[in-house]
Amino acid sequence: MSLKIAVLVSGRGSNLQAIIDAIESGKINGVIEVIISNKKDAYALERAKRHNIEGVFIDPSSCKSKDDYDRAIIKILEEKDIGLVCLAGFMRILTPYFVNKYKRRIINIHPSLLPAFPGLEVQKKALDYGVKFTGATVHFVDEGVDSGPIIIQSVVPIMDTDTPEILSERILKEEHRIYPEAIKLFAEGRIVVKGRRVFTPFPSI
Ligand code: GRF
Repeated sequence: MSLKIAVLVSGRGSNLQAIIDAIESGKINGVIEVIISNKKDAYALERAKRHNIEGVFIDPSSCKSKDDYDRAIIKILEEKDIGLVCLAGFMRILTPYFVNKYKRRIINIHPSLLPAFPGLEVQKKALDYGVKFTGATVHFVDEGVDSGPIIIQSVVPIMDTDTPEILSERILKEEHRIYPEAIKLFAEGRIVVKGRRVFTPFPSI
């Protein structure tokens, strides 16, 4: 049976595209049942249309509270019997209620080597700090910010000539490689979590 996936987005959706491509090419045994955005004009919703995937905009201003907003998302996830929720540039913190309801079934991609540089503008933070390597991390979502168990990481070197934009591009290539990999492994039931440690056959060669 193929994994039913929901992708939550807020922006351009390049990671969403990498997931769509991996599904369309048969790499991931899954189907994106719905793409949910908190931004009406997110380019990710345009990508949904192009690939005939249902795209839903849930307007934050139509919900009284964060809990209400998350309940609106959960309603859709339940209707569609979603097995995995992928955050792909989704710019909201999920409520503990949501995180616990879908415990170990929500994953996120983050453009740093966590636990270094959680939060926003992390490519600039890595440059400002002066680290020589940064990277990309796929992790389970817990109640904190970018703090859940780490599934896959990829290391990216920092060059003297880097700007946040140049570095972002280099990291993004790795994001597009490891995010579909993690989803593939999840869909195949090959991810084992023991406390904070996550065991996967990645890299598989
Ligand atoms: C990515 O860098 C991702 O790691 C971060 O937000 C950005 C989203 O980019 N969480 P995109 O919308 O997938 O192109």
